[in-house]
Formats: sequence, structure tokens, C-alpha cells
Amino acid sequence: MARTDGDSWDLASSVGATATMVAGQRALAHREQLIDDPYAEPLVRAVGVDFFTKALDGEIDLGDVNPAFTPRRAAEGMTVRTRFFDQVFLDAAAAGVRQAVILAAGLDARAYRLPWPTGTVVYEIDQPEVIEFKSTTLADLGATPTAQRHAVAIDLRDDWVKALKDSGFDPSAPTAWIAEGLLIYLPPEAQDALFDNITALSAPGSFVACEQIGDMSAFDDERHKLMSERMKALGSNIEITDLIYQGDRNHVVDYLGNHGWDVAAVSMEDAYADNDFEYPDDEMSRAFGDLKYVRAVLTRKP
Ligand SMILES: C[S@@+](CC[C@H](N)C(=O)[O-])C[C@H]1O[C@@H](n2cnc3c(N)ncnc32)[C@H](O)[C@@H]1O
Repeated sequence: MARTDGDSWDLASSVGATATMVAGQRALAHREQLIDDPYAEPLVRAVGVDFFTKALDGEIDLGDVNPAFTPRRAAEGMTVRTRFFDQVFLDAAAAGVRQAVILAAGLDARAYRLPWPTGTVVYEIDQPEVIEFKSTTLADLGATPTAQRHAVAIDLRDDWVKALKDSGFDPSAPTAWIAEGLLIYLPPEAQDALFDNITALSAPGSFVACEQIGDMSAFDDERHKLMSERMKALGSNIEITDLIYQGDRNHVVDYLGNHGWDVAAVSMEDAYADNDFEYPDDEMSRAFGDLKYVRAVLTRKP
């Protein structure tokens, strides 16, 4: 079903299911010992969507969708992404930042697995059902946060700034923000508003990281449609094309650069090489080859 203003979801449906999907990839990366996220697999299993559970159990062969989709490749792709965002938090912590915000946190377990310096507060924002499920499931698993964790259950199209402040956020202290796997699910104007709010809430020395998708049409071309059909034949209920917002959007690198941030972007190919992986040379990978991982530090208030 296509998106509507104010639509909501849990981790088994709509945009929420994409959080379970990427956590499934983190589970594979953990199994390959490429990242350390012991919570990804139990969280995915707890969501209980047959397709993801079967994929973890090896009962679904994603090679039927695309021969290039091996578990190792899924693991490497998510490893590149996970390490990039982990490193931004680690660098911010090393620079003395003690406040972090994970926007659209989904099943991200960084508040439970990163070595946060004492006194760090980590805010996690996502829709209420997503936040509630993760908090409860991790508590049931006996996991304890490695920072002071504040869960902020709100839609990012609503007044999340107020909700964040009400939860204790201090705009006068530098902050490390990540928006991992979020931007394509926001309309273009909401993406700008997100970065306007982040900038307004950030003291100098704050960090931010996200992806930049250069060409959104890669999600809507024939190759993508064919893959989507094959995924559905295997039992997936995710139709990414229905979940994302097409249309021209500002490039994050430019937008942040024009708003006081000192920006660095790394191409997929370079990010893979940084991890000693080879960027896959198949059609789908080429279609998304212009994705960049972006990180920035606020040097001056605009
Ligand atoms: C692909 S998942 C990424 C989750 C997590 N950042 C990660 O990388 O594992 C997309 C996430 O964005 C969240 N999201 C998308 N639009 C949102 C909105 N308007 N308000 C709150 N959360 C939103 C979804 O609930 C979901 O958890």
C-alpha cells in the first residue's frame, strides 16, 4: 500500500518491516564475525515474520531473486554501513560528545552494544510500536543499555523536537546524530525540515551522519520491479517502491554544507575498499553505485 500522511506501522509491516530486513542483514554480518551485534538475530526472530525467519534459517535462497545475493554479500554490505555509523559515534565520543540521537532507530542496538563513555545519553526516536517492541524485547532478553537510553516514541513528521526536549535533550551540548536508512522514507521537504531541525538543535562540534541517495529512480526501474516480484514470490511483503518518496530532493552534502556543516562523503566503492571488500559488479549494485555515506561536523551556526 502506498504511503499516506500520518501512516503508522509495526516491525512487521510497511516501513517498519524494512527495519526488520536490515536487522536480518546485521544478523548475517554478526554470524560472519564482521560486526558485533548479538541482538540483531533475536530481535528479528522475535518480530516473527516468516520470510525473515526463514531467510535466517537458510530456508529461503535469495539467490533465486538475484544470483549475486549471497548471505556473505548481504553481510558485507551491512558491515560497511554498520561500521560507518558506528565510527561516527566513536569519533564523536573521542571528541568529547556525550549526547547522541539515533533517528529512526528501528532495531538498531547501538545503545546496548557500543562502548559509550560514562555519562553518555542516547536518545532513540522511532514510531511508538517500533520503540515499544524493541525496548520490551531487549529487556526480555536481559540486555542492558551501555549508555543512559531515552526512547522517544514519536513520528518524525510530528513535533519530535518537542518530544526530544521533553525527554531531556540539551541543545546547548554538542550532539552526535545518525539518520541511517531513513531519508528515502521521508518526502523531500521533510528531509530538509529534518536537517533544519538538527542544525537548530546542534551546538558547534556536533556530528551528523546519513546516506545520500543520488538517483531515486533506481528504486523504480524495471530491474527493481523484477526483483521485487521475485522477492514476493518467496514470501516477502516489502514493496520498497510503495514505501519511498520519489521526486527531486536536495543533495544532503550540499544542504549540510550550506548550513554550517563541514561535510565529508565516501562513495560505496571506497567504503567497501576501506573494509577490504570488493564492491559487487552486478547490475543492481551498479544501479545504487552513486549512494554515498555522509558525515559532517557543525563548525559554525548558520
Ligand atoms: C530501513 S529502517 C532503518 C532502521 C535503523 N536506522 C537501521 O538502520 O537499522 C527505516 C526506519 O525508519 C523509521 N521511520 C521511517 N519514517 C519514519 C517516521 N516518519 N517517523 C519515525 N520513524 C520513521 C521506520 O520506523 C524504520 O525503523
